[in-house]
Amino acid sequence: MQKKTLSDITIQGKRILMRVDFNVPLDEEKNITDDKRIVEALPSIKKVIENGGRLILMSHLGRPKGKPNQDFSLTPAAARLSELLDCPVIMAGDCIGTEVMQQVLALQDGEVIMLENLRFHAEEEANDPDFAKELASLGEIYVNDAFGTAHRAHASTEGITRYVQTAVAGYLIEKELMYLGKALQEPERPFVAILGGSKISGKIDVLENLFNKVDTVLIGGAMVFTFFKAQGLGTGNSLVEENKLELALSLIEQAARKNIKLLLPQDIIIAPEISADAESMAVAVNAIPDGMIGVDIGPETRAAYRQEILGARTVLWNGPMGVFEIDRFAEGTIAIAEAMADATAAGATTIIGGGDSAAAVAKAGLADQITHISTGGGASLEFLEGKELPGIAALND
Ligand code: 3PG
Repeated sequence: MQKKTLSDITIQGKRILMRVDFNVPLDEEKNITDDKRIVEALPSIKKVIENGGRLILMSHLGRPKGKPNQDFSLTPAAARLSELLDCPVIMAGDCIGTEVMQQVLALQDGEVIMLENLRFHAEEEANDPDFAKELASLGEIYVNDAFGTAHRAHASTEGITRYVQTAVAGYLIEKELMYLGKALQEPERPFVAILGGSKISGKIDVLENLFNKVDTVLIGGAMVFTFFKAQGLGTGNSLVEENKLELALSLIEQAARKNIKLLLPQDIIIAPEISADAESMAVAVNAIPDGMIGVDIGPETRAAYRQEILGARTVLWNGPMGVFEIDRFAEGTIAIAEAMADATAAGATTIIGGGDSAAAVAKAGLADQITHISTGGGASLEFLEGKELPGIAALND
């Protein structure tokens, strides 16, 4: 990596201001339902504590629209971190202001404070220079380990770097860039990408960027129906992006021109409606009846995709194959997760680009059998699109 990291700085006795992404899912009782983002930040956090740094953590949680709102408090995240570290984590009442400054200055070596949600201030997302400066004044060294937020040019990720002398990457960012970067730059081949999700429009940039890198692309999710309609097939009541039909055809042509194997499903699970008790069946893709909705990839497609995945040395997956939130329509997505786990066991590097596919692998209980699961949803997507992530670009070279 071309950026300085936590390993390049002196930590002892210093106030280390670290941006993390503790934007974790909470249930109605404010219990954290998936603490992966906190767990993945532990190597950087422990490095600072164990080396006698005074750690000031900052994050956003949800989208509270620039106003304090206790539903979006970081208190549950601080409590979970304290459990994981088995040491106290002080919870601040805000992220700026006199009181916070006093608390920060009172920190002793090895102590940790968690600032309250940055997005309680509209200035965070507006990347306001005064707000960024005020945040910067809390620390002596700035560390960004919030990979999940690196695609946002906000005050705590980008603006702040103009007001600190030292701005380095944490170990999670380093790890994410190592896996995602290596896949894009020097993948072991064959390199298979699996792309799902509901819309071509959300994946077009990723597809076009990956066309320059991969050997094979497997397509799933509702976006397949836009491809099918473009090819003149009936799609029933399935989701189709009518204004992307030409684009779908041009993607098929681009793949052929670049010698990329682009696979679309051969069979589809259909149902009259998207509900857990709707009757469903598998049909060939050229036999989707009027009125029916495609909800998952069919068994033949699962088998064919599995073969491709098992034959790969690098596999990258982003986006579910069907309506995986409903168990009966999650089988295609689970089949991909299982094939990925088997490919890992056979020595391939398997990478999941965050978001829904990460949730699906966790649901299948296979998360520990994947080489790397990104903590970034939007961030990993933008990285895979080939875009520069502002939160990383702003760090010291
Ligand atoms: C995420 O969950 O993708 C990040 O935490 C960024 O959150 P945002 O989409 O609300 O900016």
